[in-house]
Amino acid sequence: MIEIIPSILVSSEEDFKKQINAVKKEVKMVQIDLADGEFVPNKTWTYQSPEKAQQYLDIDFELHLMVIDPLKTVKDWMNNPHLKRILVHYESVDDIKEVIEELSLLGKDISVVLDPDTSILVLDPILAEIKGVMFMGVRPGFQGQNFIPKTLTRIKKFKEKKTNHFVEVDGGVNEQTLPDIIRAGADGICPGSAIFGNENTPAKNMQNMQKIIKNLTAKN
Ligand code: DX5
Repeated sequence: MIEIIPSILVSSEEDFKKQINAVKKEVKMVQIDLADGEFVPNKTWTYQSPEKAQQYLDIDFELHLMVIDPLKTVKDWMNNPHLKRILVHYESVDDIKEVIEELSLLGKDISVVLDPDTSILVLDPILAEIKGVMFMGVRPGFQGQNFIPKTLTRIKKFKEKKTNHFVEVDGGVNEQTLPDIIRAGADGICPGSAIFGNENTPAKNMQNMQKIIKNLTAKN
């Protein structure tokens, strides 16, 4: 069954608290977006206040590092036992292999994130070193953007390898785009605005997505 991992991208403590509390009883894990204003033109509150943010985090989480210095950024978080997965952008560093080696020493799962325009061939030399891949369905930085359709072909191509990597999709996941994302073979989805950005409660939005997942999975 596909896992829903709500993506939390906020600019204030108040929003962080609100979003964590709204989903923590419904899911196994959340994704915390850390953006430094340099790798992407947006700075998140969680990047600026890592210690405070962790006071509210009594649930497992993964870190989506939209930053130019992933090794430095992750230092503030690595002692947290709830941190289960580190998502590092291929595009954010000069030598991804070296960075993965360093991150591996922290004892957490490592996934590599690819922007929509990055070839999936760059994964080949590092696949043995990582547990997962996250495909961006939008150019990273902001919530509420439209899903880029070629992402589907990219996921399908990667799934042809038939590896055990956990494949996540982040950006532009909503009730409309979800069916094709499921058919493409995603293992995890990380919706942001489709959970937190409309008049329904986050729990209701997730129930609706669960229904779509159940229906489609049952047919296969
Ligand atoms: C996109 C962020 C995503 C974001 C997803 O720049 O990296 O993690 O939170 O938000 P939606 O689902 O609204 O695209």
